Amino acid sequence: MPCTVIVGAFWGDEGKGKIISYLALKDNLDFCVRTGSVNAAHTVWHENKKYALHMVPAAFINSKTRLLIAAGANVHVAQFFKEVELTQVQNRIGVDQNASIIEEKHSAQDKASAINKGIGTTGWGVGPALEERVRRTAKLAKDIPELKPYLADEITEINDGLDQGKKVLLEGTQGFMLSLFLGGGYPYVTGRDTGASAIASEAGVGPTRVDDVIIVYKSFMTRVGAGPLPGEITKEEAQKRGWFEISAGTGRDRRSAPFDFDLAKKTAKINGATQAALTKLDCIFPACQGKRSFNDLPTDAKTFVKEVEIRTGVPVTFIGTGPDALDLIDRRK
Ligand code: IMP
Ligand code: MG
Repeated sequence: MPCTVIVGAFWGDEGKGKIISYLALKDNLDFCVRTGSVNAAHTVWHENKKYALHMVPAAFINSKTRLLIAAGANVHVAQFFKEVELTQVQNRIGVDQNASIIEEKHSAQDKASAINKGIGTTGWGVGPALEERVRRTAKLAKDIPELKPYLADEITEINDGLDQGKKVLLEGTQGFMLSLFLGGGYPYVTGRDTGASAIASEAGVGPTRVDDVIIVYKSFMTRVGAGPLPGEITKEEAQKRGWFEISAGTGRDRRSAPFDFDLAKKTAKINGATQAALTKLDCIFPACQGKRSFNDLPTDAKTFVKEVEIRTGVPVTFIGTGPDALDLIDRRK
């Protein structure tokens, strides 16, 4: 803080939504800016309710936080209205006037593409929508009459907020390894750069204005869709270990693998991580469930956390021990 970027370390679904929702409450965020688009679902559990958000920033659970959709994001208008209704944020959400629109035709193009089928895209049409933006034929938020009450100048709001010392969180999308440019897995990637610098860039925040980059690791790795996953185990083995997951966005099985320390180190460096969050520790060490103090963790879990710190060189400041926003160990002090 005051300006923090949240970036996923692997192939998305690391639990960014949980860390963001915790920070929204605990640090009383003034602003939260969503980058990316509808292909990413950020899960938030709050007061026994589960939200899988594709558009509304995960910080919505703090009623004082101003929520913004970045200039570089793609807005799915129907999904936006559905989630605004669900979360009741009508009076405090804004969409940058120059964010571009993702339309039904983009989803149809995505699903009809043989290449995208092979990659296993989410089918929301984010790739085709970005193509259209590059061609300079995309509709922008300011072209959509229903969005008029929500139009904002996100870039000015955030930069003025930073001038005033407000707390700003830039919410990354998916995971670093899905980056179009940097993850190294091309063509098994998404349609945009998902690295920390790109998150700041989509929101119109210069690199020198960012104070902290929190990289979010899950205690094991998962991937949906095709492409390499080092150390991948079978679905049966994942079920036996208690970490088999189904995608919050598309309902597909998530493939999985144990935590890869070398990859974690590499992604921390490229994203310039200053802190790390380690989520779902309770999935690999069930005795961690619901714990809110490091001292209460079993020895094997503590050893794992320390190994992550030693091998990545980044302090693990947040540890997730359950689904609720507040099931978390905060080691910042
Ligand atoms: P697209 O982003 O829909 O074009 O899909 C490209 C690849 O990224 C596919 O392998 C998707 O499964 C994956 N992907 C896209 N968004 C997410 C996400 O939010 N979580 C996990 N995987 C994602
Ligand atoms: Mg997700």
